[in-house]
Amino acid sequence: MHYKLDVMAEKGFVVLKDYDGPAIAPREWESLEYMDWKSGGDTNFAPLASATGEMDCRGFWDHGKADKYGVWTSNCQIAPSLVNYVGKIGGNYGRVRVIKLNPSDEATALRQLHLDDNNRLNPEGTGWVVRSWLELDDTAGQSVFILREDKEDPSTETRITLHPGMQLVIDTQRLWHVVWHPGPKPRYALITSWESDKTIEGWIKRELTGKKKRQLQGGRPERTASARTQSAPLARP
Ligand SMILES: [Fe+2]
Repeated sequence: MHYKLDVMAEKGFVVLKDYDGPAIAPREWESLEYMDWKSGGDTNFAPLASATGEMDCRGFWDHGKADKYGVWTSNCQIAPSLVNYVGKIGGNYGRVRVIKLNPSDEATALRQLHLDDNNRLNPEGTGWVVRSWLELDDTAGQSVFILREDKEDPSTETRITLHPGMQLVIDTQRLWHVVWHPGPKPRYALITSWESDKTIEGWIKRELTGKKKRQLQGGRPERTASARTQSAPLARP
């Protein structure tokens, strides 16, 4: 058994408040060194932390490691704000990468539904590895995270409409997932593997909307609460 977070138990994902700064300039993610690595569509990935610190998109298991204790790569010099974002959260991160996802249509995206292999070599009794997303640049209101408990059963599906600045945590080894991004420009997002522990739990609880906090406490949701607070820290000048 691995340690799992109660906050993830019901749905396998949680949508947090929007990132509220400090500002991250688009040149940070646009200037990174990307590698040709296909996962969940027509994608390239820029490793910020890898198993060894090399520019390497492979699973940590290729180096005999669980997806934890990531080592910063040379890319981190290009994107200090993204590195600070991860460091400020403060947990045990593994893979830290920026995804560059080229546009697709819905049918193509659905064919890319997949599970991640986050917990290979992760010892029993330690924290289950989940992933966080920070949306950097997408087609606000049109790019959609598609999640399914059962790949073949659309009735198990949740769709989360994305916008820049959005933060999510997803158990991507439990939920089949893909992003349908209509474009026309590529979508960028920061994806981080995290060991479930008290640090990540505390971050998630601090970043929950008032509505979700009340729901977790068994109270009535706030009528006016919104998941979207602001996305200005990622806006272009
Ligand atoms: Fe994935």
